[in-house]
Amino acid sequence: MYYIGVDLGTSAVKLLLMEGNGKIANIVSKEYPLYFPNPGWSEQKPEDWWQAVKEGLKELTEGFDKSQVAGISFGGQMHGLVILDKDDNVIRPAILWNDGRTQEETDYLNNVIGKDKLSKYTANIAFTGFTAPKILWVKNKEPENFAKIEKIMLPKDYIAYMLSGSFCTDVSDASGMLLFDVEHKCWSKEMLEICGVKESQMAKTYESYEVVGTLREEVAAELGLPVSVKVAAGAGDNAAAAVGTGTVSMSGSDEDAMCNISLGTSGTIFISSRKFGVDKNNALHAFAHADGKYHLMGCMLSAASCNKWWMEEIMQTNEFTKEQEAITDDKLGNNHVYFLPYLMGERSPHNDANARGTFIGMTMDSSRADMYQAVLEGVAFAIRDSFEVAKSLGIDIQSSKICGGGAKSPLWKKIFANVLNIRLDIIESEEGPGYGGAILAAVACGEYASVEEAASKLVKIVDSVEPAPELAKRYEERYRKFAQIYPTVKELFPKI
Ligand code: XUL
Repeated sequence: MYYIGVDLGTSAVKLLLMEGNGKIANIVSKEYPLYFPNPGWSEQKPEDWWQAVKEGLKELTEGFDKSQVAGISFGGQMHGLVILDKDDNVIRPAILWNDGRTQEETDYLNNVIGKDKLSKYTANIAFTGFTAPKILWVKNKEPENFAKIEKIMLPKDYIAYMLSGSFCTDVSDASGMLLFDVEHKCWSKEMLEICGVKESQMAKTYESYEVVGTLREEVAAELGLPVSVKVAAGAGDNAAAAVGTGTVSMSGSDEDAMCNISLGTSGTIFISSRKFGVDKNNALHAFAHADGKYHLMGCMLSAASCNKWWMEEIMQTNEFTKEQEAITDDKLGNNHVYFLPYLMGERSPHNDANARGTFIGMTMDSSRADMYQAVLEGVAFAIRDSFEVAKSLGIDIQSSKICGGGAKSPLWKKIFANVLNIRLDIIESEEGPGYGGAILAAVACGEYASVEEAASKLVKIVDSVEPAPELAKRYEERYRKFAQIYPTVKELFPKI
């Protein structure tokens, strides 16, 4: 049988066809536009996602025996607000996870309602990218749109709805809405009331590996797939990526905190846990995991996107490998140039939508390679900020998996291993969320008894990058300096 994983990302949707034994049979990617209608705003059209998914599914299954497709599931960009009216029309473009327009609403939630209450109701506090502040923004700034809302959805749930007609979400993605009681896995009545939302406007919640329905007849006909194809709830992209890299709680293993770093448009550090737990300062998100358990996560808003921005927008080239060749081993740990990677503001751990990208430390001898190196190092240092929060909670991380587009670069992986001073395990496939989505579909269809069983059988470590003590020491010193830059310049950001 075949299982399809749909990674609904920010720059593109990636679709993956997996055989029951975990072998990847095909991968297809379809891009769609991303709109920045104002500085710090970020939107996409759900209709573009749906079009790209349909085209992608046709291309993905072309030449394969379509009657053998048994299930489909997702890893979706999190937190985005999709609103439908009574006729199922999309009311306005989706407001995405990296959109910073909701500072006022976020401040209201954190300061007027209060962080203690938010944390009690949802295990989290408000960040501009989370869904609840966006609902309040629509309520305050677009009351005519707010009045039309019949259904509130997350990005991948819109695709599940179009495919199956089931108005559903899963516990990992629901966790990022700030409307969900993460510990008890149900909607928070208090939060719904604070946002002026009724429970009937919210989707039914499922575990990520549960079946929510089968294909709509007309969709099955259009795609040439059997109507019996099961649609499973899926997960937020980070939880799906964690499944795809085997970062799930394994019973019988002593190791509770397993770690995955994802270098996509965003950069995340994901720590799985068997038990529910909250970072008392709420710097890390406390969310449900796609394996039925929980996780903590730090999310930086611009990771591989800093690399893309520097190369494509600034250097006007896409010769990534060639450009990285100029960053020779002797340069690592010796760069005097630093870069704060806050091109879309920053989430973890600073929670500052006003933060901006910043270069500092250049001298007349600073080169193009030094600047590029600073960009790659800045992203690793910013992940280290969240890693430090995890350490301060007593979580001992000795190694991590790594996935996402950024994980294709050997240089960047080496920088990460030494900046964090941990071993990085490389998985056979870097297709974290897509592979995780396909695994969730396989579990939902009964091919595997649990996410844990599927991950332990299917995910293979093929290589590791070890830190080198001398280099890790040099990076330790560099990180200490990096960590002082944001607190020193942060007062300036709202002014510029
Ligand atoms: C996680 C987050 C991002 C998006 C990117 O909290 O906002 O990782 O899910 O797709």
